[in-house]
Amino acid sequence: MGCGSGALAVLLAKRAKHVHALDYSPAMLKRVQENAAFHQVNNISTICKDWYESWDAVPQCDVVIASRSTLVDDMQAALLRLNQHARKRVYISYPANPYFVDAQVARILGREKQALPDYFYIPAILHAMGIYPNLSFIEYPGPLADTANFDEFLAQLEEGENLGESQRSRLQAWYDADVDRAATGGEPIRWALIDWAPPHTQE
Ligand SMILES: C[S@@+](CC[C@H](N)C(=O)[O-])C[C@H]1O[C@@H](n2cnc3c(N)ncnc32)[C@H](O)[C@@H]1O
Repeated sequence: MGCGSGALAVLLAKRAKHVHALDYSPAMLKRVQENAAFHQVNNISTICKDWYESWDAVPQCDVVIASRSTLVDDMQAALLRLNQHARKRVYISYPANPYFVDAQVARILGREKQALPDYFYIPAILHAMGIYPNLSFIEYPGPLADTANFDEFLAQLEEGENLGESQRSRLQAWYDADVDRAATGGEPIRWALIDWAPPHTQE
């Protein structure tokens, strides 16, 4: 669900009998088809589908995946949908670093209000459904990694920011406080990977 250009769908299709790739964006589904043709994969069907419309015609599958595509208004309804369409296993990933940059840097940039709900509400909802999920994390360096000095760090950041003088000096203080940490960009990008057996297989 929310397959994007099909990076996972195409890889999985090489190891699966069939893959149904769902997204609400026809442009993305076209990319899936192009991607599949490029990799000579012919067992993917695309389905143009929104999280919020009826899934009655969506087939049940052994495994259902929603990777980086679960920013929905009603998580419980979405999880129920995934359960209903999975025979054996559901996998989802959700941001575990709500700012996509280091939390202290995000605060200096004034991004607190843009934070997403914490990933941990998903295990909490699953718990209320009587489900015991696995939880692990996928991490990789953030967009501010690999800068050699503060000027490079700032240049990297200023691409999308209009920084004031006070923000620059607070960032400088953050950078100078731990140069090794700063060179890695601070906290990595972190995704929670949550997987579980849908309830009908747990009985
Ligand atoms: C960040 S991409 C992830 C793509 C892919 N799953 C991956 O991990 O590489 C999020 C995808 O979710 C899709 N998406 C966002 N909101 C959606 C919605 N309401 N219904 C269906 N798809 C949606 C977008 O079109 C986009 O392709």
